[in-house]
Amino acid sequence: MKHVLVTGGAGFIGSNFVHYLLEHTDVSVTVLDKLTYAGNRESLAGLDGNRFRLVVGDICDAVLVDSLVSEVDAVVHYAAESHNDNSLHDPKPFVETNIIGTFTLLEAVRKHSVRFHHISTDEVYGDLELDDPERFSESTPYNPSSPYSSTKAGSDLLVRAWVRSFGLAATLSNCSNNYGPYQHVEKFIPRQITNVIDGIRPKLYGVGENVRDWIHADDHSSAVWTILNRGRVGETYLIGADGEKNNKDVIETILSIMGKPAGSFDHVTDRPGHDLRYAIDSTKLRTELGWVPEYANFEAGLEATVAWYRDHESWWRPQKDATEAKYVAQGQ
Ligand code: NAD
Ligand code: TYD
Repeated sequence: MKHVLVTGGAGFIGSNFVHYLLEHTDVSVTVLDKLTYAGNRESLAGLDGNRFRLVVGDICDAVLVDSLVSEVDAVVHYAAESHNDNSLHDPKPFVETNIIGTFTLLEAVRKHSVRFHHISTDEVYGDLELDDPERFSESTPYNPSSPYSSTKAGSDLLVRAWVRSFGLAATLSNCSNNYGPYQHVEKFIPRQITNVIDGIRPKLYGVGENVRDWIHADDHSSAVWTILNRGRVGETYLIGADGEKNNKDVIETILSIMGKPAGSFDHVTDRPGHDLRYAIDSTKLRTELGWVPEYANFEAGLEATVAWYRDHESWWRPQKDATEAKYVAQGQ
């Protein structure tokens, strides 16, 4: 594999993957990214221009997608509308990018016989009870709750159909909640860290017992690279690092790391249809492909993430005020 097209490579997880490829592999990388509100050129600043280029464009643009796909050996597809709260207020871009965009890519990789890896989420499986001993596995039935997760589920099913009907050389992965550098301040962890920096109390939806299974974005990247190289075509792999925490505990940990008193956060209006718990069983990825996460300790990873946001205020500052104002207007 010499040249990889990364869609959505200017977003949070995509940009972490691009950094991972340039640091740990020899491949050249083309990023296709529309630079929506969630994409940021600065997340890719300073990369080696001999091995990297950014093409600003839409994954729904079939002519552009066809020409970029014809130049590469593999496509790793991160581009998406990714925020549940936004999907509840305006679902249309989620249908367009997540479904039509994925369809457009699938037709191009089919035409050019290019290896495809589809990035998805554990949210396609719906949610679990807090005391359910089961976790999500590759055989859990799809049961998405929100416009975001249902459009991701739709895109997964398109990929599976293209494998079965047209013999596409594709793999899929469904990962749990990521944290780390370059995550937009609309998301839970960066919102709270930057709120504390700005002297605003962290905001917890509802009572805050909802559980997410946190994984560092670097561990997501190493898992995707492993699947791209050694995964079996047509297969789905769940990616997770055994990082279940409830939201209240995450906020308390952030407050403690940042030297603030316990309990100094606000309860705000809950998200409608708020999924209770996500939890991943990543046995297949670990036993079949030998993948292991590096960030075993969530608190250490969170400390590093707090330090990153403290050191990179110029990266997040331009988005902060408008994002916070939008939440406040929604009672959140
Ligand atoms: P993000 O919102 O930070 O980044 C998405 C990127 O896609 C942005 O750079 C945006 O400009 C680009 N984009 C959006 N629409 C586009 C279009 N039509 N054409 C081209 N580019 C477009 O998202 P993220 O959190 O980095 O998520 C990336 C992928 O990982 C998504 O597919 C998401 O479903 C999946 N995922 C995310 C998480 C998580 O915790 N954030 C967990 C599991 C899976
Ligand atoms: P989020 O980062 O939006 O990811 P997802 O919806 O994909 O899980 O939210 C993570 C959890 O944090 C989710 O249970 C909602 C909650 N949350 C808050 O409690 N307060 C906030 O300010 C935000 C943005 C999210």
